Amino acid sequence: MKLNIALLAGDGIGPEVIDQAVKVVNAVAKKFNHDINWTAALTGAAAIDAVGEPYPDETHEICMAADAVLFGAIGHPRFDNDPKATVRPEQGLLKMRKKLGLFANVRPTFTFPSLIDNSPLKRERIEGTDLVILRELTGGIYFGERGRKDNGDTAFDTCTYTREEIKRLAKLGFEMAMSRRKKLCCVDKANVLESSRLWRETVQDMEKDFPEVEVSYEFVDAVAMRLVQWPSSYDVMITENLFGDILTDEASVISGSMGLMPSSSIGVHTSLFEPIHGSYPQAAGKDIANPLATVLSAAMMFEDAFNLKEEAAVIRSVVNKSLSEGVVTEDLAGKNNNAYKTSEVGDWLAANI
Ligand code: IPM
Ligand code: MN
Repeated sequence: MKLNIALLAGDGIGPEVIDQAVKVVNAVAKKFNHDINWTAALTGAAAIDAVGEPYPDETHEICMAADAVLFGAIGHPRFDNDPKATVRPEQGLLKMRKKLGLFANVRPTFTFPSLIDNSPLKRERIEGTDLVILRELTGGIYFGERGRKDNGDTAFDTCTYTREEIKRLAKLGFEMAMSRRKKLCCVDKANVLESSRLWRETVQDMEKDFPEVEVSYEFVDAVAMRLVQWPSSYDVMITENLFGDILTDEASVISGSMGLMPSSSIGVHTSLFEPIHGSYPQAAGKDIANPLATVLSAAMMFEDAFNLKEEAAVIRSVVNKSLSEGVVTEDLAGKNNNAYKTSEVGDWLAANI
């Protein structure tokens, strides 16, 4: 198969982890006789430095023309402590989500048997955890009306959702639940927020179309608690943009390292695949970051964007092998001499495909 992949490495450790995913994807392509056409494009602080804008039109055109986008990370510390910066790397990510219509962010959390004791949570709490948080990605407070008034002394951000926006996300949630353990949890704050009440009402109306799915409704604060107390009780969770941002960071450490969990963003145009972690600027250029989340995102890409399940399975199996044989970066090995470099893990994975 001929596969056109847009490669957006971005900032910080983005380029390093993307390099390893490219090695693995090329090895899989060789094994299964696919012809990969990579097109690199600028995004984030790297794009601001080069052309003054974090998601240039040229990058958008490359993404639109591709079969999938493989994305590294975005963000640079020089913008974080400058509240007056008008152009920020993160704006690139938000613009990209909006322009590509990526309304659903799929963020799984699962455990690896060989890493269960790396988790900050006790083994007996997390064993069997296999959940997916489906985060709405192009609405809510991230994209609502915002501004300042009273000479700048009052600031506001508003959270707006339409029934249609909720419906299209919830539909994916119901369908995903049908292909898994048939449980769906709608996470909201319907005891306080009007937008959450519309979420609940919309999802309740859809229940009749999916009679086999067992639906629960939980408040986000309680979910934050239950996620660390009993994560294996969840299957598919759906939620709005900001709640999903927070809960997916919380969930991502359950597996033992934030450097392990992949994600996809899907919607109207080309789908995008990226690690859950950020640009980790402290590690940039040091060849120490864990590339597995990006490599597993490439597996999701084969399965979801290209419908090539065997290729995805091969990637997941070589990742499991690297974990059980201790071919891991320092976040998992500890800072002892047994830690492998980012590039060494990538080489090992590609050689073992
Ligand atoms: C994420 C990130 C982004 C978000 C930032 C970088 C804008 O935290 O993908 O979760 O808040 O959505
Ligand atoms: Mn986040």
